[in-house]
Amino acid sequence: MISQAIILLTVMFLLSTETNSAQIPNPTCPTTCGNLTVHFPFGTSPNCSLDDTFFITCDQSYDPPKPFLNPGTVEILDISLDDGQIRIASSIASDCYDDSGSEVNSTISELTLSKFTISSSRNKFAAVGCDTYALVEGSNEWNQMSAGCVSWCDNIQNVVNRTCSGIGCCQTSIPKGVKDFLVDIRSFRNHSRVRSFNPCGYAFVVEEEGFEFSSSDLRDLGNRKTVPVVLDWSVGNLTCEEGRRNFSSFACRANHSECSDSSSGVGYNCKCLEGFEGNPYLVGGCQDINECDKLVPCDGICTNLEGSYSCSCPNGFEGDGKKDGDGCHAKSHTTLFYIVSGFMVPAIGSSWIFWRRKQKKVVKLRQILFFRNGGKLLQVMQSRHKTLQVFTAEDMKMATNSYDETKILPRHRYLTYKGILFDGTNRIVTVAKYDELDDADIEAFISKIVAISQISHRNVVKLLGCCLETRVPLLVYEFVTVKTLHDHIHDDVLACSLSWDIRLNIAAQTAGALAYMHSTTTLPIIHGKLSCFSILLHHNYTVKLCDLALTSSDISPDECPSILPYLAPDYHLYDRPTAKGDVYSFGVILLELLKGKNAFTSEMTEQEIILARRFVSSNGGDNLVRILDHRLDTDGKIEQLTEVAKLAEKCLSDSYLDRPTMKEVVIALENAISRTSRSTTVCANSSQQTTTRRVVRRNVSL
Ligand SMILES: *[C@@H]1O[C@H](CO)[C@@H](O)[C@H](O)[C@H]1NC(C)=O
Ligand SMILES: *[C@@H]1O[C@H](CO)[C@@H](O)[C@H](O)[C@H]1NC(C)=O
Ligand SMILES: *[C@@H]1O[C@H](CO)[C@@H](O)[C@H](O)[C@H]1NC(C)=O
Ligand SMILES: *[C@@H]1O[C@H](CO)[C@@H](O)[C@H](O)[C@H]1NC(C)=O
Ligand SMILES: *[C@@H]1O[C@H](CO)[C@@H](O)[C@H](O)[C@H]1NC(C)=O
Ligand SMILES: *[C@@H]1O[C@H](CO)[C@@H](O)[C@H](O)[C@H]1NC(C)=O
Ligand SMILES: *[C@@H]1O[C@H](CO)[C@@H](O)[C@H](O)[C@H]1NC(C)=O
Ligand SMILES: *[C@@H]1O[C@H](CO)[C@@H](O)[C@H](O)[C@H]1NC(C)=O
Ligand SMILES: *[C@@H]1O[C@H](CO)[C@@H](O)[C@H](O)[C@H]1NC(C)=O
Ligand SMILES: *[C@@H]1O[C@H](CO)[C@@H](O)[C@H](O)[C@H]1NC(C)=O
Repeated sequence: MISQAIILLTVMFLLSTETNSAQIPNPTCPTTCGNLTVHFPFGTSPNCSLDDTFFITCDQSYDPPKPFLNPGTVEILDISLDDGQIRIASSIASDCYDDSGSEVNSTISELTLSKFTISSSRNKFAAVGCDTYALVEGSNEWNQMSAGCVSWCDNIQNVVNRTCSGIGCCQTSIPKGVKDFLVDIRSFRNHSRVRSFNPCGYAFVVEEEGFEFSSSDLRDLGNRKTVPVVLDWSVGNLTCEEGRRNFSSFACRANHSECSDSSSGVGYNCKCLEGFEGNPYLVGGCQDINECDKLVPCDGICTNLEGSYSCSCPNGFEGDGKKDGDGCHAKSHTTLFYIVSGFMVPAIGSSWIFWRRKQKKVVKLRQILFFRNGGKLLQVMQSRHKTLQVFTAEDMKMATNSYDETKILPRHRYLTYKGILFDGTNRIVTVAKYDELDDADIEAFISKIVAISQISHRNVVKLLGCCLETRVPLLVYEFVTVKTLHDHIHDDVLACSLSWDIRLNIAAQTAGALAYMHSTTTLPIIHGKLSCFSILLHHNYTVKLCDLALTSSDISPDECPSILPYLAPDYHLYDRPTAKGDVYSFGVILLELLKGKNAFTSEMTEQEIILARRFVSSNGGDNLVRILDHRLDTDGKIEQLTEVAKLAEKCLSDSYLDRPTMKEVVIALENAISRTSRSTTVCANSSQQTTTRRVVRRNVSL
């Protein structure tokens, strides 16, 4: 059983190697000759080409070497596999006369090919001269055929450049299937009347695009030794159907290739299917083209498929995504467009124009908004060093899935979306809609976002970029999490794992980030609205500061109730946020970490707030014990807690002069942390709570 299988495998292996080896050129075969890349079925040594007709002589006596078609007289300029065409250099026939009217310096033009034919679609026969008639005689295997034209003029002024219609230049097409030609050129009057400007007549077969007539050719075309001529080539003398029957000798070896009968009637050509590229004459020669890497006209999401690509629009968009098609539009927009064009058939044109105009208007509007929102300033500020990516309105629409409501993040301030950047990075981001900017705020706003984008600190959410083409600026941040310190403190389940050590660590990280921002050399970056809402808690309680105030009037009335308690009493005295303002806010956060609830509530009177601020650590620790979060296991921690409470008090001083700097806060917290002892994350059951609190009391009274 097994041996049978082995034999079968061996046979299959032999079969496959045999069929392949018949066609694969030896890997040692040279693939170039001078500047020319030689693709199979062509080859420059006898065993390297498909057969004799594809053998190319590489003449090493030239530098660089020159390739010639067998038998070595026809210079090859270029080989195209896809069109089954080859470009060669062909000579020009000339017929010159001296002053006595005798013929001098004449050259001939002829070509004889064994296998390939002269393309009748790509070439023409042309004659240049003012006293010239020329004939081209050719033959295919069976017939003789000829064509010719007459070119005449008596004055060089009558000659029109780029026009080859009988005045100074004439042309005609050449017959199909011709394998050789001979050009015959003559003069009516030995150029006697035109010799002053046209002593010679010229005639040649030339690639249609390879020659453009100009009046100067009448004098000096003779300087040009050769012109390009395109030949058709094909494999064998069978049709595709006949060729396929003998699979082992069928030349279209590559998967994803197709065969087409040669237009000259003999043989066939192979071609990679659309969407594939490479050499169809080699096994595995046709490779999928990754269209998405190229400039395909896809505005939407491009996906490479085997042999093609698909262009689609993100959710919430409609259209084919193609730039030259209907692109991607928000759904309602497209529907309207189709209804308009569908119901008013005669008006399709005008509705299209309307639509185009509207598109133009949209573009114009976006430009206006971009400049109004400080785009120019941003460009200037970033001209040297770019840290802030500038997104288009279209980028943002794609990223947010057209501002999909289901992607709105539960944040207390700006309308914020979770999105994906389709800029190749596929980064998950937070897109925040900022407020409409007052003219007076633009400069501060742009400077601040540029400054923030330069912050690279593990405890600050990275600002990646912005979009200014929309009515309100959009800010793009790295996406971290939606859970804020406020969420953690005010959720009983989450707060359970928020041990005192973790809280202290959160405070230390926050203070560290603020100290870093306050001490940036160029321009101190002030948070401006620090609160438990602007501290995101990532994995393992890593702090990520967010929501920095971007203008001096950044606090909106709707967030007042939640932000106000964090603002220093002297907040209103300054026209911009201050570092000591941040210190005060930090003090409120410390207090909140100790209390496990809002430091100050809106129900508290001003007097109560002042008391809550000032006398946390006084009264022999009793005040502290009274306010401490009962969920905390404070066993053996009271010294540390008292130290932190004192720090909070200092931060909460009325006068900014009495408040420490953020650097001093960092040092104080580090000292407190170094005094650490083991702490467990016990979430006290109601029965255990009392014991915990008793422990605290006992410690305090000691
Ligand atoms: C061949 O290559 C050389 C050097 O790369 C270049 O100077 C020359 O013009 C090329 N000749 C042709 C015919 O392309
Ligand atoms: C071509 O191949 C034949 C048989 O495989 C071999 O005998 C001959 O030497 C080869 N010729 C060249 C030029 O490599
Ligand atoms: C053209 O030149 C030939 C000799 O080269 C001469 O026999 C003939 O007469 C000339 N014809 C004219 C029209 O000058
Ligand atoms: C013929 O060739 C000679 C030398 O190459 C040259 O001087 C002369 O101008 C040429 N005559 C014509 C009519 O082109
Ligand atoms: C035709 O082209 C030649 C050379 O390119 C130029 O010298 C000549 O002035 C042009 N003639 C006209 C009428 O443009
Ligand atoms: C086709 O080509 C083969 C060899 O390449 C030759 O033997 C045969 O006679 C040709 N057939 C025709 C119809 O030309
Ligand atoms: C098929 O091709 C092989 C190899 O080229 C050749 O030896 C054989 O004669 C061909 N058979 C037919 C029926 O043409
Ligand atoms: C070509 O396609 C066949 C059938 O689809 C497959 O078995 C074979 O592996 C392919 N060969 C290559 C080189 O891709
Ligand atoms: C979590 O954070 C603590 C304190 O910063 C650190 O000791 C610990 O290694 C971290 N754990 C992980 C898994 O990162
Ligand atoms: C409270 O304690 C009991 C017994 O120790 C335990 O089963 C229960 O899960 C605890 N509850 C909470 C919320 O931790």
